[in-house]
Amino acid sequence: MTTPASPSSLTQDELKALVGQAALRYVVPGEIVGVGTGSTVNKFIDALAAMKGQIKGAVSSSVASTERLQALGIPVFDANAVQSLSVYIDGADEIDGQGFMVKGGGAALTREKIVAALAQRFVCIVDESKRVQTLGRFPLPVEVIPMAAQQITRRFAAMGGQATLRLKDGQPLVTDNGQHILDVRGLSIAEPLAFESEVNQWPGVVTVGVFAHQKAAVCLMGTAQGVQTIE
Ligand code: 5RP
Repeated sequence: MTTPASPSSLTQDELKALVGQAALRYVVPGEIVGVGTGSTVNKFIDALAAMKGQIKGAVSSSVASTERLQALGIPVFDANAVQSLSVYIDGADEIDGQGFMVKGGGAALTREKIVAALAQRFVCIVDESKRVQTLGRFPLPVEVIPMAAQQITRRFAAMGGQATLRLKDGQPLVTDNGQHILDVRGLSIAEPLAFESEVNQWPGVVTVGVFAHQKAAVCLMGTAQGVQTIE
């Protein structure tokens, strides 16, 4: 189903705003909503401000999203205070036709997976540049314990991937969890479920950025024709 927008030449930023707004219809009044991280989610958070009197609050997947929610007056709950959520709304770096995703471009993948695991439904909001046939075009983010980075790099090399340490201001980027990120190029992830299971059990891997076991139940995709809903 496609909901028409004013057609054709929307910028990527406008497409993100469109899906951020469209995601409001999945927010359940009276409940707590799971909130992801990234520029698309920022559009959703801004739109959510209009509903803040109708929801209890949010569980957030990053310090950045928490700060944005709180600045808009939306209460943020600790994930430990919540047993389940109806819905988790987040962006993605890639999504395929089955709802399998690569995430972690914003380095928040571990907390994103934790909050997504609380939710009955993952609603993914993306612009159409994120759509892929096979996962692997975007460098795969993997959060790792720093002392394991080199052995994990060698394991990816054995499967044809080139892992590089993500830097910020010339230093290893440190995640909200105090760990590092490897970005792995050159992979073609034909079997996301098996891939996620395998990499997740390598010693030192905190979280792999393949979201297959917690795939999107709904994808709201911003296109030149409007918001396409894929379920
Ligand atoms: C952060 C993520 C984001 O959802 C992903 O990087 C997409 O971000 P954006 O909406 O800015 O393109 O996984 O860790």
